[in-house]
Amino acid sequence: MIIERAYAAVDPHHEDAWPWDLPCVRDLLADGLRFAAPVTFLVGENGSGKSTLAEALAEGFGLDSWGGSHDWRYAAHRPKSPLGERIRFEAAPRGRRMMGSWSARKGFFLRAETALDALAREGFAPDSVSHGEGFLAAFRHKFLQPGLYVMDEPEAALSFGSCLELLGHIDELAKKGGQVICATHSPLLTALPGADIVEVGEHGMRRSTWDELALVDHWRRYLTDPQAYLRHVLD
Ligand SMILES: Nc1ncnc2c1ncn2[C@@H]1O[C@H](COP(=O)(O)OP(=O)(O)OP(=O)(O)O)[C@@H](O)[C@H]1O
Ligand SMILES: [Mg+2]
Repeated sequence: MIIERAYAAVDPHHEDAWPWDLPCVRDLLADGLRFAAPVTFLVGENGSGKSTLAEALAEGFGLDSWGGSHDWRYAAHRPKSPLGERIRFEAAPRGRRMMGSWSARKGFFLRAETALDALAREGFAPDSVSHGEGFLAAFRHKFLQPGLYVMDEPEAALSFGSCLELLGHIDELAKKGGQVICATHSPLLTALPGADIVEVGEHGMRRSTWDELALVDHWRRYLTDPQAYLRHVLD
């Protein structure tokens, strides 16, 4: 483990505005977020606040807010998000060593919107490779050292087989002492045994299991009988 708990103090001048008004951020302010396993998945509906949380966690740890690895922390001129500015950590011993020195800090922030730019900067997305191939190259070459790896919907670019490969890299990182925090809508990724699943939504944040997830239930039903869903949206 790298970080054991994240917490934050509200910006008192903007309490009613984003991001402080999101239920998940209110929970973070009230109770913090404890990391119970080396791999944590953040799941929830569109707009529930997964990216807001993932970005703030990455920024708070000192990863480049444009997305990218620890090597690129000086390259970002993008200011931190309001939550990223105010997030703090209770770190495990390895995490404390990393946070005590820039050169010891290891990790990677894979942000969905800027992933391709970030990967190109690191030499992983030349014109000759596809979107998904660029992602896979980064996982193979950058997800090596124990550190904090924050990902925002990495499945967006990946085929079924590539998602499975990613899961193998995530598992390996966790076994080497790294930590992964991943926002996702993927029933495949969230099935990783031993992973902690935090469901983000109107209720705030709560722990869940793979079997209880609405997204898993919907996919199961859809694959069994697509028509049961399609009749509601198609004429
Ligand atoms: N920079 C911003 N300024 C103001 N509001 C924002 C900003 N970024 C996100 N929001 C709002 O915060 C809410 C949560 O957004 P966020 O991107 O964290 O959701 P999400 O759970 O990642 O959704 P998705 O599954 O669609 O990626 C949304 O209502 C969004 O409009
Ligand atoms: Mg998002």
